[in-house]
Amino acid sequence: MRLAIGITGASGAVYARRLLERLHPDGHDLHVTLTRYGNLVWEDELGIQFKLWLEERDWSGESGQSRIIHHSCQDLFADPSWGMKKFDGYLVVPCSARTLSAIACGLADNLITRFGDVALKEKRPLVLMLRETPLHELHLERCLALARAGAIILPASPGFYLKPASIEDLVDFMVDKVLSYLPCGK
Ligand SMILES: Cc1cc2nc3c(=O)[nH]c(=O)nc-3n(C[C@H](O)[C@H](O)[C@H](O)COP(=O)(O)O)c2cc1C
Repeated sequence: MRLAIGITGASGAVYARRLLERLHPDGHDLHVTLTRYGNLVWEDELGIQFKLWLEERDWSGESGQSRIIHHSCQDLFADPSWGMKKFDGYLVVPCSARTLSAIACGLADNLITRFGDVALKEKRPLVLMLRETPLHELHLERCLALARAGAIILPASPGFYLKPASIEDLVDFMVDKVLSYLPCGK
């Protein structure tokens, strides 16, 4: 698969890390971009800069594993920005209220808000793992507008019915949900 993955400044960088780890063995092309606050929260919560974390393992795509193409969030020339370059899914994990609101308003001013706009107009899978609580009326209105436009609003809200034994189990619950919306239905 070819996936566009946006990582924003909402809490829950661990969800993004796990998503990438889960996709790693399967030979996908992962176009990844982080907002400024996505980078800052990643480092704050995971104790390592995203770029250094990337360098720690092989993301070259050789030997059949997934390839990460790391884009600047300011680069609107990057592939996910183009409607004609088809992606199998557009994922924002985790998704801040700011980025969700920007996509709802069609504010395509960085690579994530732009690829959100592209996914909606081209009718391709767009999954927004919103992490904010509580939600005020405007958040809820924007969620409704996005759901009506075809986005999947996926609050970072793991279930407890599978009897999680660890934080990793809770994180995997959410990552499984994200993956279930992709064509491979992984
Ligand atoms: C440590 C930290 C945790 C944050 N957690 C959240 C959060 O869970 N949800 C959220 O919507 N914003 C959160 N924010 C605020 C966003 O980072 C902020 O609104 C930022 O402008 C989002 O920009 P972005 O959407 O471009 O990443 C957090 C900020 C910090 C510093």
